[in-house]
Amino acid sequence: MHEDIKEVLYTEEAIRARIAELGAQITRDYAGDRLVLMAMLKGGLMLISDLVRCIPSKLEIEFIQPSSYGAGTESSGTVDIKLFPSCDLRGKRLLLLDDILDTGRTLKRVSDALRDRGADDIRTCVLLDKKARRAVEIEADYVGFEVDDHFVVGYGLDFADHYRNLPYIGVLHERCYAGGQAEQI
Ligand code: PRP
Repeated sequence: MHEDIKEVLYTEEAIRARIAELGAQITRDYAGDRLVLMAMLKGGLMLISDLVRCIPSKLEIEFIQPSSYGAGTESSGTVDIKLFPSCDLRGKRLLLLDDILDTGRTLKRVSDALRDRGADDIRTCVLLDKKARRAVEIEADYVGFEVDDHFVVGYGLDFADHYRNLPYIGVLHERCYAGGQAEQI
Protein backbone atom coordinates (compact mmCIF):
# COMPACT_ATOMS: atom_id res chain seq x y z
CA MET A 1 0.00 0.00 0.00
CA HIS A 2 1.21 3.53 -0.78
CA GLU A 3 2.61 5.33 2.28
CA ASP A 4 0.15 8.23 1.88
CA ILE A 5 -2.87 5.92 2.05
CA LYS A 6 -4.45 5.47 5.45
CA GLU A 7 -6.91 2.75 4.51
CA VAL A 8 -7.89 0.85 1.38
CA LEU A 9 -11.65 1.10 0.82
CA TYR A 10 -11.93 -0.93 -2.39
CA THR A 11 -9.22 -3.28 -3.57
CA GLU A 12 -8.27 -3.80 -7.20
CA GLU A 13 -10.13 -7.13 -7.13
CA ALA A 14 -13.28 -5.60 -5.63
CA ILE A 15 -13.29 -2.86 -8.28
CA ARG A 16 -12.76 -5.39 -11.06
CA ALA A 17 -15.63 -7.55 -9.82
CA ARG A 18 -18.03 -4.61 -9.47
CA ILE A 19 -17.17 -3.27 -12.92
CA ALA A 20 -17.83 -6.71 -14.40
CA GLU A 21 -21.30 -6.61 -12.79
CA LEU A 22 -21.95 -3.12 -14.13
CA GLY A 23 -20.77 -4.18 -17.58
CA ALA A 24 -23.14 -7.13 -17.62
CA GLN A 25 -26.04 -4.96 -16.51
CA ILE A 26 -25.27 -2.26 -19.10
CA THR A 27 -24.93 -4.91 -21.84
CA ARG A 28 -28.43 -6.18 -21.00
CA ASP A 29 -29.96 -2.71 -20.66
CA TYR A 30 -28.62 -1.44 -23.99
CA ALA A 31 -29.00 -4.63 -26.03
CA GLY A 32 -29.28 -3.77 -29.72
CA ASP A 33 -28.97 0.00 -29.22
CA ARG A 34 -26.33 2.39 -30.57
CA LEU A 35 -24.37 3.05 -27.40
CA VAL A 36 -21.76 5.75 -26.88
CA LEU A 37 -19.68 5.53 -23.72
CA MET A 38 -18.27 8.94 -22.86
CA ALA A 39 -15.75 9.41 -20.06
CA MET A 40 -15.21 12.66 -18.24
CA LEU A 41 -11.50 13.48 -18.12
CA LYS A 42 -9.41 13.03 -16.31
CA GLY A 43 -11.01 11.03 -13.52
CA GLY A 44 -13.15 8.77 -15.72
CA LEU A 45 -10.21 7.35 -17.66
CA MET A 46 -9.73 4.15 -15.64
CA LEU A 47 -13.43 3.41 -15.44
CA ILE A 48 -14.01 3.64 -19.19
CA SER A 49 -10.98 1.56 -20.04
CA ASP A 50 -12.04 -1.27 -17.73
CA LEU A 51 -15.79 -1.00 -18.33
CA VAL A 52 -15.64 -1.19 -22.14
CA ARG A 53 -13.80 -4.50 -21.84
CA CYS A 54 -16.81 -5.85 -19.91
CA ILE A 55 -19.31 -4.86 -22.61
CA PRO A 56 -19.00 -7.13 -25.66
CA SER A 57 -21.58 -5.33 -27.79
CA LYS A 58 -20.82 -2.73 -30.46
CA LEU A 59 -20.14 0.69 -28.93
CA GLU A 60 -18.33 3.97 -29.47
CA ILE A 61 -15.88 5.62 -27.06
CA GLU A 62 -15.75 9.38 -26.55
CA PHE A 63 -14.28 11.82 -24.05
CA ILE A 64 -15.33 15.16 -22.60
CA GLN A 65 -13.27 17.37 -20.31
CA PRO A 66 -14.92 19.74 -17.88
CA SER A 67 -12.77 22.34 -16.20
CA SER A 68 -11.06 20.79 -13.18
CA TYR A 69 -11.69 22.10 -9.71
CA GLY A 70 -7.92 22.13 -9.27
CA ALA A 71 -5.85 21.14 -6.26
CA GLY A 72 -8.21 20.61 -3.40
CA THR A 73 -10.27 23.75 -3.62
CA GLU A 74 -14.03 23.66 -3.62
CA SER A 75 -15.46 25.21 -6.73
CA SER A 76 -17.66 28.26 -6.71
CA GLY A 77 -20.13 26.13 -8.63
CA THR A 78 -19.12 27.13 -12.14
CA VAL A 79 -18.03 24.26 -14.39
CA ASP A 80 -16.84 25.02 -17.91
CA ILE A 81 -16.28 22.49 -20.67
CA LYS A 82 -12.68 22.55 -21.93
CA LEU A 83 -12.96 19.77 -24.50
CA PHE A 84 -16.13 18.76 -26.32
CA PRO A 85 -16.45 15.57 -28.36
CA SER A 86 -16.95 16.26 -32.05
CA CYS A 87 -19.18 13.24 -32.74
CA ASP A 88 -22.84 13.52 -33.69
CA LEU A 89 -24.87 12.25 -30.73
CA ARG A 90 -28.30 12.41 -32.36
CA GLY A 91 -30.05 9.07 -32.50
CA LYS A 92 -27.56 7.45 -30.14
CA ARG A 93 -27.81 6.45 -26.52
CA LEU A 94 -25.18 8.12 -24.37
CA LEU A 95 -23.73 6.75 -21.15
CA LEU A 96 -21.61 9.33 -19.35
CA LEU A 97 -18.89 7.94 -17.05
CA ASP A 98 -17.02 9.48 -14.16
CA ASP A 99 -14.97 8.36 -11.19
CA ILE A 100 -17.05 10.11 -8.54
CA LEU A 101 -20.33 11.92 -8.05
CA ASP A 102 -19.75 14.41 -5.28
CA THR A 103 -21.63 17.74 -5.21
CA GLY A 104 -23.08 16.74 -8.59
CA ARG A 105 -22.24 20.07 -10.22
CA THR A 106 -19.91 18.58 -12.83
CA LEU A 107 -22.21 15.78 -13.94
CA LYS A 108 -25.20 18.12 -14.06
CA ARG A 109 -23.35 20.76 -16.09
CA VAL A 110 -21.94 18.22 -18.54
CA SER A 111 -25.31 16.45 -18.99
CA ASP A 112 -27.02 19.76 -19.66
CA ALA A 113 -24.33 20.82 -22.15
CA LEU A 114 -24.60 17.53 -24.05
CA ARG A 115 -28.38 17.79 -24.13
CA ASP A 116 -27.98 21.27 -25.63
CA ARG A 117 -25.81 19.65 -28.32
CA GLY A 118 -28.50 17.21 -29.38
CA ALA A 119 -28.06 14.20 -27.09
CA ASP A 120 -31.56 13.19 -26.06
CA ASP A 121 -30.88 9.92 -24.25
CA ILE A 122 -28.28 10.45 -21.53
CA ARG A 123 -27.68 8.13 -18.62
CA THR A 124 -24.83 8.21 -16.14
CA CYS A 125 -22.47 5.77 -14.47
CA VAL A 126 -20.06 6.61 -11.65
CA LEU A 127 -17.74 4.34 -9.76
CA LEU A 128 -18.25 6.19 -6.47
CA ASP A 129 -21.26 8.05 -5.14
CA LYS A 130 -20.63 10.37 -2.20
CA LYS A 131 -24.25 11.20 -1.45
CA ALA A 132 -23.51 13.18 1.72
CA ARG A 133 -21.93 15.97 -0.33
CA ARG A 134 -24.65 16.48 -2.95
CA ALA A 135 -25.36 20.16 -3.68
CA VAL A 136 -27.53 19.82 -6.80
CA GLU A 137 -30.32 17.41 -7.57
CA ILE A 138 -28.82 14.57 -9.57
CA GLU A 139 -28.42 10.82 -9.17
CA ALA A 140 -26.41 8.40 -11.31
CA ASP A 141 -28.17 5.56 -13.13
CA TYR A 142 -25.34 3.11 -12.42
CA VAL A 143 -23.22 3.29 -9.26
CA GLY A 144 -20.23 1.15 -8.39
CA PHE A 145 -20.04 1.89 -4.68
CA GLU A 146 -21.48 4.42 -2.26
CA VAL A 147 -18.82 6.08 -0.09
CA ASP A 148 -18.92 8.11 3.08
CA ASP A 149 -17.35 11.55 3.12
CA HIS A 150 -13.72 10.35 3.15
CA PHE A 151 -10.93 11.98 1.15
CA VAL A 152 -10.56 9.22 -1.43
CA VAL A 153 -7.91 8.80 -4.12
CA GLY A 154 -6.82 6.16 -6.61
CA TYR A 155 -8.31 4.53 -9.70
CA GLY A 156 -8.62 7.94 -11.42
CA LEU A 157 -9.28 10.00 -8.31
CA ASP A 158 -6.58 12.52 -7.55
CA PHE A 159 -5.33 14.99 -5.04
CA ALA A 160 -3.41 17.78 -6.81
CA ASP A 161 -3.17 15.46 -9.85
CA HIS A 162 -1.43 12.67 -7.94
CA TYR A 163 -2.54 9.17 -6.90
CA ARG A 164 -4.76 8.56 -9.98
CA ASN A 165 -2.55 5.62 -10.88
CA LEU A 166 -3.20 3.64 -7.70
CA PRO A 167 -5.09 0.50 -8.74
CA TYR A 168 -7.28 0.60 -5.61
CA ILE A 169 -9.38 3.29 -3.90
CA GLY A 170 -8.01 4.47 -0.58
CA VAL A 171 -8.42 7.18 2.02
CA LEU A 172 -5.67 9.79 1.82
CA HIS A 173 -3.74 10.43 5.00
CA GLU A 174 -4.56 13.81 6.58
CA ARG A 175 -0.91 14.84 6.64
CA CYS A 176 -0.98 14.97 2.81
CA TYR A 177 -3.39 17.88 2.78
CA ALA A 178 -2.90 19.34 6.27
CA GLY A 179 -2.43 23.09 6.07
CA GLY A 180 -4.26 23.16 2.75
CA GLN A 181 -7.83 22.36 1.91
CA ALA A 182 -9.34 19.55 3.91
CA GLU A 183 -12.37 19.18 1.69
CA GLN A 184 -12.34 16.94 -1.31
CA ILE A 185 -13.69 18.06 -4.58
C1 PRP B 1 -13.65 15.51 -10.00
C2 PRP B 1 -14.28 14.19 -10.43
C3 PRP B 1 -15.62 14.61 -10.96
C4 PRP B 1 -15.94 15.85 -10.16
C5 PRP B 1 -16.94 15.48 -9.12
O1 PRP B 1 -13.06 16.08 -11.11
O2 PRP B 1 -13.50 13.53 -11.40
O3 PRP B 1 -15.58 14.94 -12.35
O4 PRP B 1 -14.73 16.28 -9.52
O5 PRP B 1 -17.23 16.57 -8.31
P1 PRP B 1 -18.65 17.27 -8.24
O6 PRP B 1 -19.69 16.20 -8.21
O7 PRP B 1 -18.55 18.02 -6.93
O8 PRP B 1 -18.79 18.19 -9.40
P2 PRP B 1 -11.97 17.23 -11.01
O9 PRP B 1 -12.63 18.55 -11.15
O10 PRP B 1 -11.11 17.04 -9.80
O11 PRP B 1 -11.16 16.99 -12.35
P3 PRP B 1 -10.38 15.67 -12.80
O12 PRP B 1 -11.42 14.68 -13.30
O13 PRP B 1 -9.51 16.14 -13.88
O14 PRP B 1 -9.64 15.15 -11.59
